[in-house]
Amino acid sequence: MRRSALVVTAALLVPSLAGAEESVRVREGRRLAAEFCSPCHAVGKTDASAHPAAPAFRLLEQRVDLDDVRRRLRGGLFAGHADMPQFKMTREQARAMHAYLRSIQGP
Ligand code: HEC
Repeated sequence: MRRSALVVTAALLVPSLAGAEESVRVREGRRLAAEFCSPCHAVGKTDASAHPAAPAFRLLEQRVDLDDVRRRLRGGLFAGHADMPQFKMTREQARAMHAYLRSIQGP
């Protein structure tokens, strides 16, 4: 009896813990984007990019593979164009940015 109650509790807890961890990550990604990327990119759902050539993050998936961006953030994003400085993030930061970028995709 007691054990089955425990199993039920665990089954209820695990998905919500995973969800909580995910939203912590999304929040951290939003913070990183605001700090490092918002000087040029639109980082929210409705804002416009400060740098005219910088794509809005919510439309990024139309241009690039977000998994690829995560890997490149780890390895040192970017070359590509002179206007954008290079960023190198920890694995956790890259995951957070990736989770945030995923969470805002769509027009
Ligand atoms: C100083 C301005 C500036 C900052 C700061 C900046 N970007 Fe950019 N970024 C640009 C511009 C301009 C482009 C468009 C480049 C092009 O079209 O060739 C761009 C393009 C991109 C692209 C698409 C092209 C590619 O190489 O995949 C990604 C992804 C990207 N930026 C991510 C980021 C992230 C993540 C941050 C913050 C950690 C960031 N950028 C900060 C200016 C900036």
